Amino acid sequence: MNALVPTHQLFKQQIANSFSRCASTYNQVAELQRRVADQLLSRLPKQSINNVVDLGTGTGYALPRLRKNYPDAKLLGVDLAEGMLNYIASNRVETAGELNLICADAENLPFADQSLDLIYSSLSVQWCRDYSKLFDECYRVLKPAGQLHIATLGPKSLWQLREAWQQVDSDQHVNEFLPLDALIESSRLLQLNSCDVETIELSYGDLSSLLKALKTLGASVVEGRSASGLGGRERLRLLNQAYQTLRRPDGLLPLSYEVYFMSWTKA
Ligand SMILES: C[S@@+](CC[C@H](N)C(=O)[O-])C[C@H]1O[C@@H](n2cnc3c(N)ncnc32)[C@H](O)[C@@H]1O
Repeated sequence: MNALVPTHQLFKQQIANSFSRCASTYNQVAELQRRVADQLLSRLPKQSINNVVDLGTGTGYALPRLRKNYPDAKLLGVDLAEGMLNYIASNRVETAGELNLICADAENLPFADQSLDLIYSSLSVQWCRDYSKLFDECYRVLKPAGQLHIATLGPKSLWQLREAWQQVDSDQHVNEFLPLDALIESSRLLQLNSCDVETIELSYGDLSSLLKALKTLGASVVEGRSASGLGGRERLRLLNQAYQTLRRPDGLLPLSYEVYFMSWTKA
């Protein structure tokens, strides 16, 4: 580990590298991400706007849909992972009209004060380390009456994997997610309009498919761990044993996500 670089910056670099590496495989396993994005998109306001940011755009799933909602708006796709933006550029994600792709951190947005009408962000801000910075930045760059729409994960997400790992060792193998009250507290500059919580359960035939899906997404990076958060052969055998107790009556292994759908206005 480089002693001169703060750990949260190293973690960000790991996140960017992991998602960049997985850009070409991400769509194959992004079932949850598509479901959540579709729901968040259906909640967006129907009005004419000048610009909209897709914060943590990934492979750009939302971009053509944002274009459909806002035919005349300038689209801005922002992501920490350059590989994701390269994927969008080289796969000609169909957005017709003006699209800018920008490699940047949601906690340090490269936009002028009061310059944006709408910020949309689906399943990305749970990777942020400092939510106050994130929301302060959103507040800064939104125009008065501008809106922020976010889908993010709550602490009950991935609980099965967390609990199964706890039976193997005391290391942290699964990231922690901020509870709702802390999220709301960090966003207090903005006016909260709505907040809905939904649990979405995915299922897998076996543990290796479950772990492979997380890895293929680029989402197996764990703060404070240099490797992917997975283990050696014996630890994986123990993990598998622990996870079997969670097998559902239909024979599949569940993995739950607690999803927060939230929206704010800059008063
Ligand atoms: C699970 S993907 C979601 C992508 C897309 N929104 C979707 O719905 O498919 C998370 C994305 O957030 C990006 N990301 C993570 N931390 C970020 C940050 N601090 N700033 C900007 N993007 C970030 C990752 O690089 C990745 O592309």
